[in-house]
Amino acid sequence: MSKRKTLVVGVGLTKFVKPHSKNWDYPEIGLEAARNALEDAGINYQLVDAVVVSHVYGESTSGQKAVYGLGLTGIPIFNTNNNCSSASCALMLSKILVQSGDYKCVLALGFEKMDRGLTVKWNDRLHPSQAHFDYMRKLGVSAENIPSLESFTSDVLKVYAYGAREHAKKYGTTKEQHAKIAYKNHYQSQYNPKACLQKVFSMQSIMSQVICAPITLAMCALTADGGAAAVICSEDFMDKYNLKSKAVEIISQKMVTDLPSSFNGSLLSIGGYDMAKKAAQDCFADSGLSIHDIDIIELHDCFACNEVVNYVNLVVDGMLTLMVDWNLKDILLVLLGWHSVPRLLISSEEMLVYGK
Ligand SMILES: CC(C)(COP(=O)(O)OP(=O)(O)OC[C@H]1O[C@@H](n2cnc3c(N)ncnc32)[C@H](O)[C@@H]1OP(=O)(O)O)[C@@H](O)C(=O)NCCC(=O)NCCS
Repeated sequence: MSKRKTLVVGVGLTKFVKPHSKNWDYPEIGLEAARNALEDAGINYQLVDAVVVSHVYGESTSGQKAVYGLGLTGIPIFNTNNNCSSASCALMLSKILVQSGDYKCVLALGFEKMDRGLTVKWNDRLHPSQAHFDYMRKLGVSAENIPSLESFTSDVLKVYAYGAREHAKKYGTTKEQHAKIAYKNHYQSQYNPKACLQKVFSMQSIMSQVICAPITLAMCALTADGGAAAVICSEDFMDKYNLKSKAVEIISQKMVTDLPSSFNGSLLSIGGYDMAKKAAQDCFADSGLSIHDIDIIELHDCFACNEVVNYVNLVVDGMLTLMVDWNLKDILLVLLGWHSVPRLLISSEEMLVYGK
């Protein structure tokens, strides 16, 4: 039996701001994102028949608190927490709910209120990522904290920095290539009024302030406060409310957690290399498409080197030079043009869903 279609018919964002820089709380953040998505879809909250909320920091049922601002309609509200992939999980679960046929219109909502750096809130129990950090040390990575960083942030950064070093050895990636990725991403921020930092940085300033080589400060995603939401619906719902002109179909979305190969002696694997590859392969198998059908890829770029690693991982060896060493402004203009006609949403759900 062919699967029911799932369509995104509205999206909304708040502006992202540095932690502690604005006096707002998560219910306001969530509400603003949700309202923006509903407004974009042009539908009333009364038509939503379930909400899947994602956040990492905060108490249980924070989702209900945020969504109740839209009204008390009694619909199911699910909370999901999966580190960097939390928002994609909310999207995926919303899609599955619609696909089940039991729900016609589901709101996927994500919000976060963070600290500077990543923080650990529960110190009386085993951290879920500990096995990964221990394994990283077993492979020779120093246990010493990166100066001025809290130990969890330090370990997360090391996962990617040491993975990038292994990648450089294997593929000859250079620090200039990492810097070009960060340059491109910062350059793009000037066109995005919702971005936390809207500033173009020179290659020279990007390459200064090394935190843990090859990662420099300007190559890190900032921690930030903000929210995002999407309205997902069935084909019947789309037709009934005349939403076809806004609809983008989710052709395939897959999630992968650790594989036996995550612990195969490679620092790249600890950072999610194999999981990302499998997620993409699963999407291709599910959709019947191949890499040659893809017009644009949007990657998890928590650190510039992670984007580089996944270019090679998801695309093909040799593509890296083509993508990174071209005239970046030209590439950007092409990418910005393509953004308006997305054909496939790929979610590479590899990041830190650690729990071994
Ligand atoms: C890198 C990190 C530790 C820096 O945190 P911090 O020391 O608190 O730094 P701040 O956010 O206060 O920024 C300090 C300065 O550097 C700047 N800065 C921070 N990140 C930057 C970036 N990526 N590019 C350019 N400038 C940056 C800030 O704008 C700030 O400048 P200002 O003093 O002029 O305002 C933090 O952003 C972080 O943990 N990022 C990684 C998040 C992460 O791991 N995500 C998940 C990965 S899977």
